[in-house]
Amino acid sequence: MSTLCGLISALTAAAVGVAAASNPPPQPEPIDVVELPLPPVAPSDAEGACTPAINPRRTGCIGIDVKEFQAGDFTPDGNHVVVNVEFVGAPAAPDPASTYTGEQLILIKADGTTFSNGDPWKCLSCGVPPEQAMSLDPERDYPHVFRSGKKALWGHNILDCGGVDLASDECTPNRTHIYPIHWTISADGSGPGGVPREMRLHPDDVHMGWSSFTDNGGQFGYFGRLEFNPNPTVGEPLAPRYDLVNVSVLIDQSGKAPITVEGSELHINRDAITVGELRGFSGAGDEILYIGSSWESSNIDVFAVHVVTGAVRRLTSHPEYADPIAFSHDNKWFVVMDTRGSDRQMWMAGMRWIPPLIDMVAVTAASSTRNNGARRFFQPILIDRNGDRGEYFGQQVNAGGDGSNGSVNDPNWNGRADPAFSPDGTRIVYWQALVVPPACGRANPLPCPVSTAQGGRTYRVMLARLTSRKATKPAKVFDVPDYIPWTTPFPPGASLPEQFGVPDGHYTLRGRVSGVADVILEGTSTLGGSGSVSVSYRNYSDQTGYVLDGHEQVSAQIIQWDNLIDWSSDIVQTGVVQATKRTSPGGFHLEINAVTNIFNANGTLTTTINGVEYKQPANGT
Ligand SMILES: *[C@@H]1O[C@H](CO)[C@@H](O)[C@H](O)[C@H]1NC(C)=O
Ligand SMILES: *[C@@H]1O[C@H](CO)[C@@H](O)[C@H](O)[C@H]1NC(C)=O
Ligand SMILES: *[C@@H]1O[C@H](CO)[C@@H](O)[C@H](O)[C@H]1NC(C)=O
Ligand SMILES: *[C@@H]1O[C@H](CO)[C@@H](O)[C@H](O)[C@H]1NC(C)=O
Ligand SMILES: *[C@@H]1O[C@H](CO)[C@@H](O)[C@H](O)[C@H]1NC(C)=O
Repeated sequence: MSTLCGLISALTAAAVGVAAASNPPPQPEPIDVVELPLPPVAPSDAEGACTPAINPRRTGCIGIDVKEFQAGDFTPDGNHVVVNVEFVGAPAAPDPASTYTGEQLILIKADGTTFSNGDPWKCLSCGVPPEQAMSLDPERDYPHVFRSGKKALWGHNILDCGGVDLASDECTPNRTHIYPIHWTISADGSGPGGVPREMRLHPDDVHMGWSSFTDNGGQFGYFGRLEFNPNPTVGEPLAPRYDLVNVSVLIDQSGKAPITVEGSELHINRDAITVGELRGFSGAGDEILYIGSSWESSNIDVFAVHVVTGAVRRLTSHPEYADPIAFSHDNKWFVVMDTRGSDRQMWMAGMRWIPPLIDMVAVTAASSTRNNGARRFFQPILIDRNGDRGEYFGQQVNAGGDGSNGSVNDPNWNGRADPAFSPDGTRIVYWQALVVPPACGRANPLPCPVSTAQGGRTYRVMLARLTSRKATKPAKVFDVPDYIPWTTPFPPGASLPEQFGVPDGHYTLRGRVSGVADVILEGTSTLGGSGSVSVSYRNYSDQTGYVLDGHEQVSAQIIQWDNLIDWSSDIVQTGVVQATKRTSPGGFHLEINAVTNIFNANGTLTTTINGVEYKQPANGT
C-alpha cells in the first residue's frame, strides 16, 4: 500500500497563486499505511458481553460504535499511541475484569509487538484506586502524551504515573494518579471555574492552550500554565487538581482587527491575530496554531502566530476546509485533516481570491457545510512547514490503496481529530470513522458500507510510515513566557471584550492589485453574527492574474447555532482562469445548524472553473 501519486491535484491553473521561489515545494514521497490493533469488539454493550471467548486475558472489550473514541499521539519511543476508548460488556464486580468499563485511557502498540501480558494494548486508567482519582472531570477527549512520557492529558484531567514511563511495566494502576484540571474565573476563586474545550499542551509540558465559548456563541482562545494544587481551599472540585494559572486570552493587545474602517474605506488586515479556535502548537512551541479569519471568502484555513513576535503565517490556502493539525517535533512538517480532494466545499469556495466580505455574516454557514452530520470528509494531508503555496497543496497521506471497501483510501472512512507525528518524524498516526446512518442508508442515496474492521467496528487507528525518511531530532523547545507579550491577561474576575464588528455603512475596498469593491454593510456589528453584506466588484484583484467582476449579496439570520442564509451571487473571474460563481434565479437559501451540520437548501449556488462545475451537496447529504 505504498504510493507516490498522492499529490493533491493542483486544480489545474485555478490554483496557481504566489510563486514559491524561496521555498521550493517538496516532491511527493512513498508512504505505507497499516491499521493498528485495538481491544476486541464485544457483540453488544450488555453486562458480561465481553466473554472469556472474546478476550481470554479478561482485559476488556470495546463497542461497535465510535461513541467517545479518540486516538491521540505517540509515547517518546514512538512505539505506542495513546487512545481514549469506551470499554463495554464488562462483567459485574467483583470480577477483576469489571474494571474494564466505560471511558478509559489506553496505550496501543504501534510496532507490532505486545505488552508483557500478551496484549497489544494496556489500560492506564482502569483500576486506579478511587482515592488516587478523585473528582475526575467527565471530559476525556483529545488524549495526549506529555513529551516526558510520564504523564498524559486526558480531556480535562491529567494522568500521572508517579515518575515512570506510561509505557513501562512499572506503570501500574496502584502508582497512577489522575487529577482534574481547574480554571478559576471568579474573582474570589469560588465555583466550578471556566469551561475550557479542546485543550492542547505546549511541548514544554507546562503551558496549555484551549478554547472556550462565550455566552452568545462566540469563541476565544486562551493560554495559561498548569500548576499542581495538592490541597485547594476554594473552587470546585476541592480535590488535588491542576490549576490553570497566569491565563491570558489570545486577543492582540494592540486591538488590530481583521477588518477596519478608515473614513469610507475598509481595510483587510492580514497581519491581524485572529484566534477563532485554537488548534495547538508548532513542534518547537514557537507558534500557536489556530483557525483564523479567512483571507479568501468561504475558505477556512489554519494559521500560525509566533508567541513572541505576533507574526502571522497562513499555513493552508486550498479552497477546501482545514481543521485538526499537528506539527512534527523537528518543526519541519505538519499533517492536517482537510476536505481537499473531496470537492465538498468547492461550490462555495472554489473561486480563488474573493476577499472575505460576505464572510462577516456567512462564515459559520461556510464552515458548517464541511460535514454531513457525523460524516466527515477529512483525510490527512502532509504539508511542509511553509504550507500550501503556488501549485503545492501537500500530499494525501493515505492516497495509496485500491479504493475498495475498507482500503486505506476508502472514502467512506473519514479522518477525525487529532493526527500526530512520531517524535522522530518518520511516522504519522491518525484515526478514522466509517459513515453510519443517517449519513447513509434510508432516504440518503449513499448506501451504508459494511465495516471491514474487526468485529464490525466503525472506527480504526491508522499508522502511516514515511518510508524514505530518516529519523530526525526534535527541535529545541521554545522557552515560552507565562504571559505572551501580545496577548491580553485574563485574571480571575476579568471580563471578556466585545467581539469585533464593523458599523453599518457604504464602504470601498481597494484590491491589492487592481480595482475596487463597493460594500454595503447592514447589521454586521458582530463578526460572524446576523446582518447583510452586499458587494459589487469592478476589475477587483487581490492576487495577480485573478480579476473579479460582478455582485454578491448575503443576508444571515443567526439564532444561537442556527444559520439562515439568503445568498445571491453573479461573479465572473478572468485572467489565469475563467470562472463563475452564480446562484439560481430567486437565489440560494440555506438553513444549517453549526452543531448538527445537516445541509438544507432551496435554490443553487454553483462555481464553475475552466468549465468544471462544482455543485452544492443534495439536502441531507
Ligand atoms: C502494585 O501493583 C502491582 C501489579 O498489580 C503489584 O505487583 C504490586 O505489588 C502493587 N504494589 C503495591 C504497593 O500495591
Ligand atoms: C502567576 O501565577 C502564580 C501562581 O498562581 C501567581 O502567584 C502569580 O502572581 C501570577 N503572576 C502574575 C503576574 O499574575
Ligand atoms: C462495497 O460496499 C458497498 C456499500 O458501500 C456495497 O454496495 C458493495 O457491494 C461492496 N463491495 C464489495 C466488493 O463488497
Ligand atoms: C484591470 O486590472 C488589471 C490588473 O488586475 C489591469 O492590468 C487593468 O489595467 C485594469 N483595467 C482597467 C480598465 O482598469
Ligand atoms: C425551502 O422552501 C420551503 C417551501 O417553500 C420552505 O418551507 C423552507 O423553509 C425553505 N428552506 C430554506 C432553507 O429556505
